Amino acid sequence: MVDFKNIKGFVFDLDGVIADTSVYHSKAWHQLADELGVQWSEDLANNLKGVSRMDSLELILKTGGKENDYTQEEKEKYAAKKNTNYLELLKGMNASAILPGISDFLTSLEEHDYKLSLASASKNSPLVLEQLGLAQYFKEKVDPSTLKHGKPDPEIFARGAEVLGLKPEECIGIEDAKVGVESINSAGETSIGIGDPNILNEADINFTSTTDLTLNNIQKAMEVGQLND
Ligand code: BG6
Ligand code: MG
Repeated sequence: MVDFKNIKGFVFDLDGVIADTSVYHSKAWHQLADELGVQWSEDLANNLKGVSRMDSLELILKTGGKENDYTQEEKEKYAAKKNTNYLELLKGMNASAILPGISDFLTSLEEHDYKLSLASASKNSPLVLEQLGLAQYFKEKVDPSTLKHGKPDPEIFARGAEVLGLKPEECIGIEDAKVGVESINSAGETSIGIGDPNILNEADINFTSTTDLTLNNIQKAMEVGQLND
């Protein structure tokens, strides 16, 4: 584990880390899965976390053994339909959807002069940040439409460090998705997984809730990690 003192920046996932929006994504996909006759499950919901819109649709179709049943045009229509449903669920969303502890954490990162960037797979992330009133914290964002590969590929988190002018080892990435943690790790950054430690077992540091995200807790966890190296 790298030394906490070397950390200069934080690269954030959005859905499920900053905001409670992964439940809206799940709800919208669940609606579509029902329409397509694909059995919804907790496992499928978890596997969809962090996955881009089209890849999510492909995964749902594959889960139902329907990967060859639709043309590209039909698939695009279904993906657009999911997004319309998602945007409907986002209507009226405000700062109350910011996950607990996140506003204080962002303030303290700014006070301590850490650099911040966003590495979300969501094309809706600028809109979500605006609605939450957090856009000012994330002047640096990776635009997911410019990526060749989705999470777990390292590309998005590597770019998250690059846009800050930092080396990967100077950054901490924060994720709630298994594929996201894998992306952080393979980009060479320190990973914090937020959620079930059994699912996020590859994270360097695991916190079960965003309320645990404090600089003190991170420093302590990294010191323990170094002792165990
Ligand atoms: C990720 C979510 O952040 O963004 C996924 O975890 C979602 O559930 C993905 O599918 C893409 O989002 P969007 O808003 O571009 O459809
Ligand atoms: Mg997420």
